[in-house]
Amino acid sequence: MISAPRTAGGAMPAAGPLVDSFGRVHTDLRISVTDRCNLRCVYCMPEEGLPWIDKREILTYEEIAEIVRAAAKVGVRSIRLTGGEPLIRKDLKRLVSMLSAIPGIDDIALSTNGLLLAEQVQGLVDAGLKRANISLDTLREDRFEAIARRPGLQRVLDGIDAAVAAGLGPIKLNCVVMRGQNDDEVQAFAEMTRDRAVAVRFIEVMPVHENVDGHTNQYISATEILDRIRANGDLQPVEGPKGNGPARYYAFDGAAGSVGVISPLSHDYCDTCNRVRLSADGRLKLCLFGDHFIDLRTPIRDRAGEEALIAILRGSMYVKPERHHLDVGQTASAMRALSEIGG
Ligand code: 5AD
Ligand code: SF4
Repeated sequence: MISAPRTAGGAMPAAGPLVDSFGRVHTDLRISVTDRCNLRCVYCMPEEGLPWIDKREILTYEEIAEIVRAAAKVGVRSIRLTGGEPLIRKDLKRLVSMLSAIPGIDDIALSTNGLLLAEQVQGLVDAGLKRANISLDTLREDRFEAIARRPGLQRVLDGIDAAVAAGLGPIKLNCVVMRGQNDDEVQAFAEMTRDRAVAVRFIEVMPVHENVDGHTNQYISATEILDRIRANGDLQPVEGPKGNGPARYYAFDGAAGSVGVISPLSHDYCDTCNRVRLSADGRLKLCLFGDHFIDLRTPIRDRAGEEALIAILRGSMYVKPERHHLDVGQTASAMRALSEIGG
């Protein structure tokens, strides 16, 4: 237990922020609401799915909100809901409205594959959702089925339009680039940004269990992706849309949108990492790559109370590693529920 000093009036002083051993202040919490997904992207999951987490082990919305209330007291300001695919969790808008009512939480975002977005987006916006990142690896239906192992490109495109119509902005499209699979589309994706106010973000494919064998052949660095796009026009560095993402942004002259690259392998972004992750079964993950976990579900279900949760959150900062050591063709051990990458 921490014993927090009290002010003269007896009120608790404002709690200080979550600072790790390397001085990084953590203001961003990514919450996986389910490990399940309605697609089977080749770089993420096997065709038959994963050994799914037992439903009883998944945090309830009330449990998630309790963790977020504690996190908000120590400086967490932005939340991103991820999966698996978050929109397959029942009534996600109920969670969004619970979280948006928590004092201190001023930004709620969603990372989704977009399949169910068209039908849900208005309810989510009404509940307080501010931003969305949507995965889109190809603009061709045959390739969509090859990469996601299920059909659905048109539904994703409809979801993007619905998100724009519902006023969610800025919309970020996340495109995982793989040599020989969709790398010939990077220019078409970049061209979209000339007249559409979207940020297209190219993500270096990372080695996970599913693709580690082919990874060395698939991998294309962010530098090569940008060079290819520069063949279509000059790209200038720009600030990019609001958000806490690790992307570096560029834009064509006069373009409505921007192009971003996320390069976990070639330029790791550990120096500025300000985020922790909560898995669907209630483990706090301190680093996306690696096995640095702290169990929060047990204290929640034991009714440990807010002060204890805050003490655990603070303690977790000492577990946070300085950086990851992931490399091309090398797999990371804790790579599940990756949709949180797209910041
Ligand atoms: N490499 C890069 N990004 C990945 N994602 C999942 N698996 C990987 C991987 N192996 C991210 C992408 C995708 C989202 C759903 O998860 O951002 O768009
Ligand atoms: Fe689902 Fe995203 Fe994984 Fe694709 S990458 S299978 S959409 S969680």
